[in-house]
Amino acid sequence: MTKLAANTIEVDAKWRSRHPTAPHLAGLDEFQSLYQDSIHNPSQFWAKQARELLSFDRDFHTTTSGSFHRGDAAWFLGGQLNACFNCVDRHAIQDPNRVGIIYEPDDPANDCRSITYGELLAEICQLAGFLRSQGVKKGDIVTIYMPMIPEAAIAVLACTRIGAVHSVVFAGFSAGALRDRIQDAKSTVIITTDEGRRGGKTISTKVVVDEAVRENHKISTVLVYERTGGQIPWMDGRDFRWKEEIQKYPAYISPEGMDSEDPLFLLYTSGSTGKPKGLLHTHAGYLLGASVTGKYVFDLNPQDRFFCSGDIGWITGHTYVVYAPLLLGSTTVMFEGTPTYPNHTRLWDVLEKHQATHFYGAPTSFRVLKALVDKADVENHDLSKLRALGSVGEPIAPEIWKWYHSFMGDGNACVTDTYWQTETGSHIIAAYTGVTPMKPGSASFPCFGIDVAILDPTTGEELQGNSVEGVLAVKKPWPSMARTIRGNHDRYLESYFNTYNGYYFTGDGAYRDADGYYWIRGRVDDVINVSGHRLSTSEIESALVEHESVAEAAIIGVPDDLTGQAVNTVVSLKSKQAAMNIEKELILQIRKVIGPFAAPKRVIILPDLPKTRSGKTVRRILRKALSGDTEFGDTSTLADPSVIDELTKILQKAD
Ligand code: PRX
Repeated sequence: MTKLAANTIEVDAKWRSRHPTAPHLAGLDEFQSLYQDSIHNPSQFWAKQARELLSFDRDFHTTTSGSFHRGDAAWFLGGQLNACFNCVDRHAIQDPNRVGIIYEPDDPANDCRSITYGELLAEICQLAGFLRSQGVKKGDIVTIYMPMIPEAAIAVLACTRIGAVHSVVFAGFSAGALRDRIQDAKSTVIITTDEGRRGGKTISTKVVVDEAVRENHKISTVLVYERTGGQIPWMDGRDFRWKEEIQKYPAYISPEGMDSEDPLFLLYTSGSTGKPKGLLHTHAGYLLGASVTGKYVFDLNPQDRFFCSGDIGWITGHTYVVYAPLLLGSTTVMFEGTPTYPNHTRLWDVLEKHQATHFYGAPTSFRVLKALVDKADVENHDLSKLRALGSVGEPIAPEIWKWYHSFMGDGNACVTDTYWQTETGSHIIAAYTGVTPMKPGSASFPCFGIDVAILDPTTGEELQGNSVEGVLAVKKPWPSMARTIRGNHDRYLESYFNTYNGYYFTGDGAYRDADGYYWIRGRVDDVINVSGHRLSTSEIESALVEHESVAEAAIIGVPDDLTGQAVNTVVSLKSKQAAMNIEKELILQIRKVIGPFAAPKRVIILPDLPKTRSGKTVRRILRKALSGDTEFGDTSTLADPSVIDELTKILQKAD
């Protein structure tokens, strides 16, 4: 029997007795023995899971091959399967009336919709038929720019049905960012909506798409789902109406057989340098990662209702709004709105209305809600079905964890902090619902098959034992890891495998405590995390220097009570005579080039950035100054130390 660590919250015995069936894992002992098996006999472990959880048209002959070293890890070779068949057909065949998606609209006064697996299958096939009619073939990349409505999931699955690769771009990205992603993917077909609704506001998706493709003559088709019926620009011959078009196609077409390692989707994410990276995920490995973590981390069952508030434009939406719940035949709740509209009890209202069994959200929204919600506002909600509360995207502070546990689940649901990344495809460190004794603030233990190491950041040596802190790495390949960066395999090797030879480098720092629990410390590279959105400092800096007045720019992530980190911008201008309102203009510039979610909280204009004599910007000093720390350490390497006085003066004035 495993000895429990001190200062943990044990899973309440009532949790098991309230379970509608039986939890997938009997307890911590079973978890640990399966984990050991997954590490010591990975081929057998994963082969068994794959055959149990996925339906292959043709069985695989080789479970795993390749290595980090060459960046050629591959899984389930020889196997053939279809993602849409696994997500939809299997369940539609068994029970076409089971609900696959519940749509909760932005405005609660509007009707919600329940879409059964049978209906999903028909609509996906019809849309797939339309895509084929537009020339989309196996391997082509279709860009999807849609808000959180069921049709976004239908679009994703229609691509997979015919073997097309989906590239979903978050509908908060600006036209410029969308244009770059469309061009990189060489998409000729775009799927969007006329408009979107979020938090009571209208989002002009079609207008953004039009601007993004204005000079792109390769675009043959823009398919528009009519979400609002609003007035939008239209180009005959290129633009098509979803509702009108799909009726022309049959309600069943057979799924395309795909090799396990054929590309499934592309998802762009920020790196520490340069352009966004188009990470490529492949079929069997990714689908298995989604299924295994859905089943064991969340203890998800077919009769469950899973409400993940992540957006389909990010990896959380891919894996835990669409793939995991549908692969496991449960119901996914797609919420179009925001946690505070029309009032700050909206999440509780949605959970109660749909009798959700699971909720999965980000600490940034918990922090906002903690400041707004009284216990009295929420305790009259019947959330008795809720068994699991997931957290993702950023570290969850212990006091926020405790608030989440007590305010959302009334202490009855297990909290699981899940650590993972766009690159990892599915969770890699997490508490297993109903199994792991919970430690508020810790992501707990590595998931099945994930052999984690903490490395000394300088020597790269693995730190053994507990109570060690360093950079977080993984020692061997796992099925759902991204296989490459589209068009730049060298960058893939460089970003993840060359920093620490023989390891996958996550970019995060972590601490393994005395009980072996992991605590994620945050990024150790130039990636910043604002409200769970991953942003690259260099990408925002390039957006700024495109502005005619800017000479140089440095982006600093500064700790922020609400958003985790906030974007702070320090710029020097080409001319001493700064334009009026230059700060506002620069904020607008970032909104325009990247999107509103990357907008800086603070803009500081300096005559020059603090630099070494060789011209390198000394971010350490900016980071300290902007965080309110006046101990700058050694400043003797600065070319012009007077910059610091200037910066301090500006900051003091602002306070
Ligand atoms: O820094 C880590 C943070 O989010 C980064 C990955 O961002 P992205 O690829 O956009 O995926 C976000 C959703 C999976 C990581 O490198 N991160 C993610 N989850 C956690 C986290 N930091 C701390 N705790 C987490 N649970």
